[in-house]
Amino acid sequence: MKIDEVSFLENNLSRIDDAIFKSLPPKDYSLISEAIHYSIMNGGKRIRPQLILMMSNSIKVDVSNKTIDLIAAAGELIHCYSLIHDDLPAMDDDDYRRGQLSCHKKFGEATAILAGDAIQPLALEILTTIEDPNLSAEIKLMIINLFSKACGPKGMVEGQSRDILSENTSLSEKELDEMHYLKTGKLIEACVMCVCLLKKDITQTHINAFIKFSQKFGLAFQIRDDVLDVIGDEKIIGKPVNSDIEKNKSTYPSVLGVDESQKKAEDLGNEAMNILKDLPYDTSELESLCFLIVSRNS
Ligand code: IPE
Ligand code: IPE
Ligand code: MG
Ligand code: MG
Ligand code: MG
Repeated sequence: MKIDEVSFLENNLSRIDDAIFKSLPPKDYSLISEAIHYSIMNGGKRIRPQLILMMSNSIKVDVSNKTIDLIAAAGELIHCYSLIHDDLPAMDDDDYRRGQLSCHKKFGEATAILAGDAIQPLALEILTTIEDPNLSAEIKLMIINLFSKACGPKGMVEGQSRDILSENTSLSEKELDEMHYLKTGKLIEACVMCVCLLKKDITQTHINAFIKFSQKFGLAFQIRDDVLDVIGDEKIIGKPVNSDIEKNKSTYPSVLGVDESQKKAEDLGNEAMNILKDLPYDTSELESLCFLIVSRNS
């Protein structure tokens, strides 16, 4: 299944891409800008901004669509930066990303490193520019704090470090859960959490449920990514298959095998879905997404 052809996702895509595009420096501003556009405006699934839009529609946030768009753009930018650095020779050393040469293959390593370096603070800067009478400076700061923590030394960077250190070792399932939470789950959790902050009358119980949902969703998403490294079609996933295997990384399939990994992803997807079903909001699209992310082929 091609995830971006699902109608409710497709409907959000042009809004998301427009918001992201507007948040970037002009492509012809510099070499780094060109590399930034190349690595961002290139057809990712946009799952993180999709989650932000769907969450905001579901709980009916107090803020404007423009505010949501800026937060969605920031979430995707952090993710795109992480992909550029993830592909570098010193990391996963992958030559293709989203069906085209990876940033360092196209522009050279120095430019790829700098493009990633530029995108991360740009995401945070975008958040500081939000002006909305229904968004207090305090909440804005909390959102910036959430995203900063998600990608910082106790978040994505630590997960990526453990991922590299896991090469030629075998992690336990618990260690894998933690690594995946850090490298992928925390940013997904931040995307969900920050939308909860945009609704004044949401209860702590419901926020807790959304956090649980996001954690199961994030883990299911990364397990399916690991599975696709083994069973995926390079032309469809747009990046090399067997990349994890070649680096002898500790992944779900390497520890549990493909079938058991896929089962765990599906179980987590179902658990995430069931958490949503118990909430007093229309979560139907988010529920469908729980199924889609574990059955996706790209
Ligand atoms: C790939 O992310 C890396 C992970 C964190 C699993 P995505 O599967 O969301 O990649 P794009 O954005 O669609 O290219
Ligand atoms: C990437 O995980 C996670 C981050 C970029 C934070 P992977 O290394 O498995 O992602 P892919 O498979 O290269 O997209
Ligand atoms: Mg990696
Ligand atoms: Mg990688
Ligand atoms: Mg992977």
